[in-house]
Amino acid sequence: MLEEQFISKEYNNLPEKGSFTWSSPSNIALVKYWGKKENQIPANPSISFTLNNCKTTTTVSFTKKERKDNFSFEVYLDNEKKDDFKPKIETFFKRILPHLSFLKDYHFKIETSNTFPHSSGIASSASGMSALAACLMSIEKELNSEITDEYFIKKVSFLARLGSGSACRSLEGDIVVWGKHDEIEESSDLFGVNYPFKVHQNFKNYNDTILLVDKGEKQVSSTVGHNLMHNHPFAEQRFAQAHKNLSTLINVFKTGDLKSFIEIVESEALTLHAMMMTSMPYFILMKPNTLEIINKIWAYRKETNSKVCFTLDAGANVHVLYPENETESVLEFINNELVAYCQNGHYICDRIGFGAKLITHLI
Ligand code: PMV
Repeated sequence: MLEEQFISKEYNNLPEKGSFTWSSPSNIALVKYWGKKENQIPANPSISFTLNNCKTTTTVSFTKKERKDNFSFEVYLDNEKKDDFKPKIETFFKRILPHLSFLKDYHFKIETSNTFPHSSGIASSASGMSALAACLMSIEKELNSEITDEYFIKKVSFLARLGSGSACRSLEGDIVVWGKHDEIEESSDLFGVNYPFKVHQNFKNYNDTILLVDKGEKQVSSTVGHNLMHNHPFAEQRFAQAHKNLSTLINVFKTGDLKSFIEIVESEALTLHAMMMTSMPYFILMKPNTLEIINKIWAYRKETNSKVCFTLDAGANVHVLYPENETESVLEFINNELVAYCQNGHYICDRIGFGAKLITHLI
């Protein structure tokens, strides 16, 4: 399916004003997206669990304006004006203008809040950009009655990708694939799609407890990180490995083989960080406590035969993944042995979820 399908019409039935509110969750990648081509096209396919509790709620209120020569918007986080968010949103608006032709016709008030603490070190770009894209796309749906639900969600994902790559995996759930993969016919580099094959009961209500090891700002933005995959000495092998790991996961999801699941997920996390450590310039985002936690998880698994495992984002925090039937025992393990390595003892309990939701609609 080609990009042209998302070019928007010119509309002449624009409403004077209105507002939409959407909530959209974060997601955690199992096979990681790290490295991109022009226009936010991923260098390899990725797959993620959609989360349930870590989400952003965004209201976009729009009023028609006279002059149409530039973008006009204001941004608030928890009712506080956030001018430092504006450059990222301005870039996003520029990228999506061909796809939403009315963006210069309105003044937008964007009000957003997260369920997780802003300074938790959890990236809010996936939930934030997907919620914003959904609000803006709702305006187009209002203008064009031919837009189907299926097209709507695809285009929101397409738009969200242009804001932040991984955001395109937050619209649906519970498992989403983004990036062309040979064995997943409906997969695309342009948007995320719901994982289309059978998923074993073992993965139902899978838990993700996020251990907040370091709540500071990221030292290296993901944009810089992705770009360091250009001319990276191991890039080609890494991209090939992601394709292979995704193939293996298809069988793992079918059979419920948690041992292989752990191998792929942990290897992917460490490979992501290995790519950072072997780029030029090189960097390390893990902290000593990240490694302490990983070692504790390995020791606990050896002792108990638990199927708990970890994954990492582009930061020091640890996502602890475990099946529903181990909820009680792993939480006890976390409280007894891992909380000591979290900043101020903070962690967030989350699990697999089902994507973005329209909350209110006022025209
Ligand atoms: O969406 P971005 O550009 O912030 O990239 C996110 C990349 C990782 O979180 C490290 C991996 C992933 O697939 O989510």
